[in-house]
Amino acid sequence: MFEQLDQIEKEAKAALANVQSLDDLAAWRTQWTGKKGSLAQASQSIGKLDPKDRPAFGQRFGAIKQALSEQEATLESRLQSAALHQELEEDAVDISLPGRAANIGRLHPSTQSLRRIQHIFAEMGFQVWESREVESDEYNFELLNMPAHHPARDMWDTFYVQSDDPQQKVVLRTHTSPGQIHVMRTLNPEPIRVILPGKCYRYEPVSARSEMMFHQVEGLVIGRNITMADLKGTLANFARRMFKDDVKVRYRPSYFPFTEPSVEVDIECFICGGEGCRICKKSGWLEILGAGMVHPTVLRNGGYDPAEWSGFAFGMGPERQTMLRYDIDDIRWFFSNDGRFLEQFG
Ligand code: DAH
Repeated sequence: MFEQLDQIEKEAKAALANVQSLDDLAAWRTQWTGKKGSLAQASQSIGKLDPKDRPAFGQRFGAIKQALSEQEATLESRLQSAALHQELEEDAVDISLPGRAANIGRLHPSTQSLRRIQHIFAEMGFQVWESREVESDEYNFELLNMPAHHPARDMWDTFYVQSDDPQQKVVLRTHTSPGQIHVMRTLNPEPIRVILPGKCYRYEPVSARSEMMFHQVEGLVIGRNITMADLKGTLANFARRMFKDDVKVRYRPSYFPFTEPSVEVDIECFICGGEGCRICKKSGWLEILGAGMVHPTVLRNGGYDPAEWSGFAFGMGPERQTMLRYDIDDIRWFFSNDGRFLEQFG
């Protein structure tokens, strides 16, 4: 009996020396010191002993049990701290690694361009106005010197909006020019120096060169002695600030129903310096806007007497200017929400 206890102690200690992990230790406990382990089984044989030997057996049993559990506890705490150590090592954060860049949003290239244009004109003393996108036929065409059936209406393919009033046709504005009449009728009889940025709509097949929706910036200046020289000075100044300090500007005769005379404004191609290239289509010039002296009929429609007042107006497309500036070959990039395009405009 006593030898059995000694044997168990020896074997249990030897087995404990081989324990490598907390799992091993749990298995060891089950086999040796647990409720149904070898030690507990051996203790049951106490009943077969001569009663006088029982106290000695009990003492021996207790001593072995205590020795084993002390060794077990020491080993357990050593294994636990080793496991914790390993876990901390595996989860360690390398604080010397550069962080991942957070993808922050940015302004849309059209917005950036609009803001740039607004900033330039604000510096020249222009106010920024907004005007409605849903317009009457009257404001979009008639008051701009295009009565019904005027052939110039063909310059703008129009979205018509269902309206309750059969007398009044409603359209999505095809250009920002109707804002001119709103401003004149509001500010009359004060002199005017405003720009009107906003969205326009055209009923055209979407292609690389035309979108259904795009932006324009309208400009209107009205005063007592405004001449073509003011138009030229203002727009050349704009072109210099927008594109390049020493950019060359050219005024080409053109036609718009709401201005007389009308011009289109070109700048010397900044890609080839006027030599002729793919961007300027070999002409050496890039068209950036349309302009002219406000037509007497339009002045009158705004409540300004053309005998006393004169003015100039202009209209430009920020998407078009951005396309020229960055050599973008398709206007659809602007509104197709492709991150690869948009993120190039930090
Ligand atoms: N509204 C014209 C367009 O959409 C652009 C324009 C040309 C506006 C001449 C003007 C102007 O104010 O004077 O094509």
